[in-house]
Amino acid sequence: MKGKTNCGNSFSIAQLTDIHLFEDINKSLLGIQTEASFQAVLTEVKRSLLPIDAMLLTGDLTQDGSIASYTRLRQSLDDFAIPAYCLAGNHDDIPLMQSHLPSEYVHLRRSLDIGKWRILFLNSVVVDAVYGYLSGEELSYLENTLNAYPDRPTLITFHHPAVPLGSQWIDSICLENQEEFWEICDRHPQIEVVLNGHAHQAFDQIYETPHNSVRCLVTPSTCIQFEPQNYKFQIDSQPPGFRYLRLYADGTLETEIHRLKIGSFHPDLAAVGY
Ligand SMILES: [Fe+2]
Repeated sequence: MKGKTNCGNSFSIAQLTDIHLFEDINKSLLGIQTEASFQAVLTEVKRSLLPIDAMLLTGDLTQDGSIASYTRLRQSLDDFAIPAYCLAGNHDDIPLMQSHLPSEYVHLRRSLDIGKWRILFLNSVVVDAVYGYLSGEELSYLENTLNAYPDRPTLITFHHPAVPLGSQWIDSICLENQEEFWEICDRHPQIEVVLNGHAHQAFDQIYETPHNSVRCLVTPSTCIQFEPQNYKFQIDSQPPGFRYLRLYADGTLETEIHRLKIGSFHPDLAAVGY
């Protein structure tokens, strides 16, 4: 059974996504200074969640793929002093991430064992494309590692959402080969959660395959938000946010969205392009 529980031996995680830092610390994305909103989110994580066991940063860590932005991100995460596991989004430069992000606290991993849970990090980035795709290599890795650890509750994370969110323009830039991904998930009942970013909005829905039932989670950006359920691009006035997850040893989990105070950051609601 999947859902809330109060059993002990749990692990807590904060997911921060779509941070969109620039080389220039003062630069804004659609009206929001991304460095300032990221720092405000870190402060809120500290205020509301600590102690936590880990942080997951699920892509679009920078907007411009600059060395300066990755270096600043690493410094912020080192100062925060909680293990942070990062993956790439469509705005990221993967070679620069690999060379400038890892540190004592910042990690780029394929998997993470946390208590009884196993977290799998996949790369859904297609170079020079906004949409996502899981390559044959990624899918083989997924299948092999799921076969090797059939008894561990598993959370799979990558940047692009793997199910339609009900917003035509976002659904056209999500994971392109969703069917291949879900065919694999159907064979591995230990998969409990698929966790994504990219869509700058909250989403929480159970996806049913013929033999499995998986909770699909998408999380607000630490900067600008996109209006859910809109067929075209539209900025949302909701404040920046992040997701809290608590993973229990029996494979259940609790999760909730946290946001900054309403009005703490003002997007340019008239902006028409992303
Ligand atoms: Fe993205």
